[in-house]
Amino acid sequence: MFPTMSYRLLFVCLGNICRSPSAENIMNHLIEEANLSDRIVCDSAGTSGYHIGSAPDPRMTMAAKKRGIVLKGSARQFTASDFDNFDLILAMDQDNYQQILYLDRGKKYGDKVKLMCDFCSHHTLKEVPDPYYGGPEGFNQVIDLLLDACEGLLEFVVNQPSVN
Ligand code: 4NP
Repeated sequence: MFPTMSYRLLFVCLGNICRSPSAENIMNHLIEEANLSDRIVCDSAGTSGYHIGSAPDPRMTMAAKKRGIVLKGSARQFTASDFDNFDLILAMDQDNYQQILYLDRGKKYGDKVKLMCDFCSHHTLKEVPDPYYGGPEGFNQVIDLLLDACEGLLEFVVNQPSVN
């Protein structure tokens, strides 16, 4: 499925149609710019199964497009097998974070799970707010936050021994 020696990132939100596909595609954009596509691989998933198979939300697609990012992908649900398949799992908010840890029944993978906003250097929000029931500004804010967090995340990943 992925190049074998790559560092694997999984972005997780609730529905996998707004925040986590945006994070995945923004990160891929930065990875391509840095010529690191053969070494860092991204995917995304939702803690819920509400939107399995759906394309990214059109409102999210529009907000991303305004910033030059094309959103690709279709929603899938997070599963416990993702703990083994990924090196780092990025939760968009506290609910996602707690839900992921809840699925780690053997309490083995906690160190792999982090909050996306921990990688922000310009924004102070601790979570990427769920934009689904709000207006267009919420979708723009998601892109702003994720552009910041993805830059910090790329810096973190390139400093991992397996990527160097
Ligand atoms: P996401 O946004 O978790 O960023 O993909 C949502 C998408 C769908 C729903 C909630 C949040 N929903 O309730 O259907």
